[in-house]
Amino acid sequence: MTIRIAVIGGDGIGPEVIDQACRVLGAVQEKGLADVEMVHFPHGADHYLTSGETLSDVTFTTLRDDFDAILFGAVGDPRIPGGEHARDLLLGLRFRLDLFINRRPLRLRVADLSPLKSAGTAPIDFVIYRENTEGLYVGTGRVENEGTDLELAITEGLASRRGIDRIVRAAFDYAEYAGVRVTLADKANAMPHMFGLWRRVFSEIAAEYPNVESEMTYVDALAMELVRVPERFGVIVTSNLLGDILSDLSAELVGGPGLAPSANVNPGVHGLYEPVHGSAPDISGTGRANPMAAILSAALLLRDQGALDAAVIIEDAVTEALIEGLRTPDIGGTATTVEVGSWLAARVLEGEG
Ligand code: NAD
Ligand code: IPM
Ligand code: MN
Repeated sequence: MTIRIAVIGGDGIGPEVIDQACRVLGAVQEKGLADVEMVHFPHGADHYLTSGETLSDVTFTTLRDDFDAILFGAVGDPRIPGGEHARDLLLGLRFRLDLFINRRPLRLRVADLSPLKSAGTAPIDFVIYRENTEGLYVGTGRVENEGTDLELAITEGLASRRGIDRIVRAAFDYAEYAGVRVTLADKANAMPHMFGLWRRVFSEIAAEYPNVESEMTYVDALAMELVRVPERFGVIVTSNLLGDILSDLSAELVGGPGLAPSANVNPGVHGLYEPVHGSAPDISGTGRANPMAAILSAALLLRDQGALDAAVIIEDAVTEALIEGLRTPDIGGTATTVEVGSWLAARVLEGEG
């Protein structure tokens, strides 16, 4: 079966790293490892500035109905300081496609990539399950008395029993399958309404999985534990904003933004795959962007579409490139974005099978 992929490079280094992911997918296709069809969309800052479109209903319907998955670069452009196109596109797709799981796997592939002294003594290999359609990201609130001394901004946060139930259940299902512990990260001490509900739902679901070890932690203490003993974590389930922050912290433990992929999914319905990092305007156009996070995101896409062999071949090729020293400057090398993409595409083509 053909995997129909909509490709949105976006802004800054987004298109640079996604081009390399597409080359690797092209190699997967050529090698007969999976049948992929890629269609490119121009959406991002340039498209918004020239056409006024962020994400129209027509484009949204096409992305939803004509594709199995979306491969996404990053959005964010200094010419649009309010970031409205980025919110419409990225948060728009996450919310409108109801992609409630933001799965962010963190794995230390080669010990020297970690800034931790303890790296190499125990494997770092965990996944963040970030709730992706609620929390403080719902975008509602208001500003009163703007520009006066009495100015007041209110940002609303939403947590529904159904919304928490489905992400926590997904985390427990994964933990049961992988044989790992589930850790809830919250802030129930300071925000008892929202996170009190998280704790109640989490406890109820934990009782349904007697064979899965679980714990409830405060996110601030968890941040310390992540740096001190990252090897003790299997799956961390958390809210939208806390998951955003924890995923950049965690990325840094395993080599930084250039190595952290992510999947935004509603299982069996749709998925959007993107690196955890942003558009990095500071290095855009220099050839310094590490395409590995984007390429590993393409592997997650293949994995979710059932092309497991192809996904594993790509993931192993990335590990091999890191061991051989084929690295961009962010991880201590001198290779360019295109050189890394070329090497990985060639490796996929050369492989057995
Ligand atoms: P960023 O992730 O773009 O960059 C942070 C730092 O990491 C920068 O120094 C950058 O050069 C470096 N970096 C990031 N990705 C890299 C890569 N692949 N290779 C090498 N170095 C890399 O975060 P930021 O600077 O806070 O945000 C820039 C813009 O991106 C903002 O507009 C922000 O809103 C947006 N953003 C978008 C997404 C997304 O689309 N998913 C995610 C995060 C940030
Ligand atoms: C991410 C990004 C986004 C988020 C921004 C660009 C809205 O930081 O995907 O991690 O906060 O979810
Ligand atoms: Mn983020």
